[in-house]
Amino acid sequence: MIERLGGGVRRRVRGGDAERHQEHAREEQLSLHGCGLVFWNITPNGAKIFRATLTPSEAAAVIVPQVEIVPGVFHLPGYLSPEAQCELVERVLALGTAPAGFYRPTVRGGGQMRIDMMCLGLHWNARTYRYAAMRGDHDGLPVQPIPGPFVALATEVATTVGMRIEPQVCIVNRYPVAGKLGLHQDKDERRETLEAGVPIVSLSLGDTARFILGGLRRREPVRAIALASGDALVIGGPSRLRYHGVAGLHRGSGPPTLGLSGRLNLTFRQYALASDDVPGA
Ligand code: SIN
Ligand code: MN
Repeated sequence: MIERLGGGVRRRVRGGDAERHQEHAREEQLSLHGCGLVFWNITPNGAKIFRATLTPSEAAAVIVPQVEIVPGVFHLPGYLSPEAQCELVERVLALGTAPAGFYRPTVRGGGQMRIDMMCLGLHWNARTYRYAAMRGDHDGLPVQPIPGPFVALATEVATTVGMRIEPQVCIVNRYPVAGKLGLHQDKDERRETLEAGVPIVSLSLGDTARFILGGLRRREPVRAIALASGDALVIGGPSRLRYHGVAGLHRGSGPPTLGLSGRLNLTFRQYALASDDVPGA
């Protein structure tokens, strides 16, 4: 069973083609009503596949445009349909204005980041660089859980490139038009998770970012990747600890229908391999 982002419906895929086609037709009808639907993809012969209705092995068999930039780094341009982007933006903004929503973190050295952040599932403490159940560096509130459909989506993205993740954290970054994120490694998850190369799954919404990807050492050269609205990026395997950052945004480049100024980025992370090792578990 998979809970879909659209409408929070849970349903079972029974495998019958006719049944699935009927469901797809219903979804297509619904999509006429605006931001209700998600996760479809177009196969090379033009058929629409609703990936969230597929089993993991079926999903892995669907051809999704993807580029492996270096081993373990996959760029999936346009992974999210315009409808899915719209719905994801709505959901994220609703979470962002709820208690434990967006805030502007202050880092260890005392400087403020140039982006707002909201952590779901677990909080990344910008002062200690540790994960916790509460926002100890800000307002002490417990984090909001990661919505089930977000978890399903991130899992699906990883499966699409032949990787696995059990998302325990979703860090949502909100970039104002002048927002940036300096070159860094994502290395605050548990060591065994990093060593296993469990990927980070990233989804971008709004203005295109000049994402920079370096090597395993800070001084190695970086390459730029344009991350547009709807793109997914997976960083795992031997590249899990590559330096990366966001050099800036292409101001005003996002789809106007999203009504978003700047950019949202969601990164899904698995903190621990064993759920007992997750703080607050
Ligand atoms: C991050 O490095 O954690 C976020 C990257 C992005 O905004 O694309
Ligand atoms: Mn990062």
